[in-house]
Formats: sequence, structure tokens, C-alpha cells
Amino acid sequence: MRVLVTGGSGFLAAWVMRRLLARGMDVRAFDVREDARLLRALAPERADDVQWRTGDISEARDVASALDGCDAVIHLAGVLTPACSADPVRGARINLIGTLNVFDAAIACGLRAVLYASSAGVFGPDDGATPFPTTHYGAFKLACEGSARAYWHDHGIASIGFRPLVVYGAGRETGSSAGPSLACRAAARGEPYTIPFTGATGLVYADDVAAAYERALTHRFDGAHAFTLAGDITPMQSLIATLKQIAPHARIDAAGAPLPIATSFPDDPALARMLPGLTSTPLIEGLRQTVAFYQ
Ligand SMILES: NC(=O)c1ccc[n+]([C@@H]2O[C@H](COP(=O)([O-])OP(=O)(O)OC[C@H]3O[C@@H](n4cnc5c(N)ncnc54)[C@H](O)[C@@H]3O)[C@@H](O)[C@H]2O)c1
Repeated sequence: MRVLVTGGSGFLAAWVMRRLLARGMDVRAFDVREDARLLRALAPERADDVQWRTGDISEARDVASALDGCDAVIHLAGVLTPACSADPVRGARINLIGTLNVFDAAIACGLRAVLYASSAGVFGPDDGATPFPTTHYGAFKLACEGSARAYWHDHGIASIGFRPLVVYGAGRETGSSAGPSLACRAAARGEPYTIPFTGATGLVYADDVAAAYERALTHRFDGAHAFTLAGDITPMQSLIATLKQIAPHARIDAAGAPLPIATSFPDDPALARMLPGLTSTPLIEGLRQTVAFYQ
């Protein structure tokens, strides 16, 4: 099986590709720039097996030619909350039009399904059950979910959009919610660091998200689905205390407003039914692995 992973130079893509390569799959990475540094750090023995294509996800032709000859796609290319706030039109081109380009190319190639990254950013601050985003980023992700449903109804192409909350792990160094990962890096290096938000948020270990994509890739399903991956809802003060258990000399604190995303989410039995047994790495273990990576 040859799988196209868009956003291949990014954080989540490196974790996903590491798993696909370990299964012996052919992997093609697509991004505006080729950057295999994180993948090399995570999977040094297999990183060179990846075939790279550079191009712009908002250009239909680039996406169609990248997908040509692939059997599946995991669409992770995108820009995060701060970039969407700074330039909403560019954010929409990349996050929304880019996703439509992936669906169109997948239909043209005769693929059965598209796996893509939505986000828990589809929820506003108060309600983790009914999407009501308060950011452009969340609004574009929610629009992608609506279009995924339309593609199922119009073309019969199935999809799963995972909605992770804050993904943490080695290599998560940009975006408004990179604080927990940057705290691990600072703790490993003995540097002071202030997580730029307070309150509680859901922390999901990167490898758990990668495992969810891997499982979805090997599962045959119908319909257009969006599944929240909320992780462990953790107050930043508890995160800091846990980090101190791992690195007693860590000098980490937190300041600023809480993230504008809900902190309580109903269980979704549909996810457990469709993809049973997804892993959930305990927070202390995920933090320990992240600190160890930076050490
Ligand atoms: N990291 C998280 O906590 C988190 C949470 C929820 C959802 N997501 C979603 O998961 C996906 C991956 O996130 P990430 O954390 O790996 O982000 P990232 O910024 O590390 O990776 C995104 C990649 O997309 C690429 N990209 C940007 N614009 C592009 C364009 N025009 N054409 C082609 N490639 C382009 C970037 O170069 C980058 O390598 C994104 O869609 C993001 O919205 C991430």
C-alpha cells in the first residue's frame, strides 16, 4: 500500500509516517518544503525510504499529481490557530480549500476514503458536545467536516476526521498549544519556561494520534465521521507537578488566558465501536518520553 501523507514535514506527520514505515508501507510525503529532520530523529533507520513531493496544498494540480499512484491519503497539511488569525484568507485557502483539493484528488484517483486532521478547535470554550468555534482555525476545520459529509453524500467517498485537543510529544514546537511540549524540552535542558496559557486542557500523546490514523487506514468503513481525541484533561499546574516528578529541577510555570476550547467532552461510543482498543498513553509516560527525547 502506498500512502500519501500531506504536511509531511510537520510534527504529526513524522509520528504517523514512523508508524506506517514500521508496518512496511510505502510512504510519500507532500509539503511546501521538504524537511525530514523530525522523522529522521524518530525513525532513523527508515526515514530515507520516504518519497518526497513538494507543492502547495491549496493548488489542486499539486495535490492531484502528489496523490497519483497512491492507494490512500492521510491529510495533515495545514496552518495552526495563530496563522489563521493573522491571515484568515490564507488560512482558508490552506486549511479549507486544501482539504477540498484532497477530496477531489482522492475521488479522481478512485480512493475509497480520506483520513484528515480536524481539531478539537471546532468546539468553543463552553461546550465539548456541540461544535461552536470561536477561532478562524476552528471554523475552517468545522467547514472541512461539513464538506466531508457532502463528499460522502455526493460521491460516496468515506472519511474520518480526527479532532485532537492539544497534541504533545517530541517535535511539537509551534502553534499556540505547543507549551506542554516546549516545557518538556526546557525541563530536559534545565532552562526556565512559561507555558503561555493557564487552566486545564486535554493532552494527547502524539503516538496515540498516530496510532489512530494507522488503525483507521487499515479499517474499511463507510460514511463521514469526525471523532474527538480529547486525551487527559489536565490543569497546567498538574502538568507542571508531573513534569517535576520526571525532572525535579525543572523551572516551569504557566501564565496567560486558558485556551478557548472546552475542557469536558462526552464519551463517543461510535469511535470505540469503529476503532476499538485505541491506545491512551498515561500522561506521565508521554511526558517522560518527551523529556528523554530532548535529553
Ligand atoms: N498539533 C496539534 O496539537 C493539533 C491538534 C489538532 C489538530 N491538528 C491538525 O493536525 C495537522 C498537523 O498539525 P501539526 O501539529 O503537525 O502541524 P505542523 O505545523 O507541524 O505541520 C503542518 C505541515 O503543513 C505544511 N503546510 C502548511 N501550509 C502548506 C501548504 N500550503 N501546502 C503544503 N503543506 C503545507 C507545513 O509546512 C507543515 O509541515 C494540522 O492540520 C493541524 O491543524 C494539530
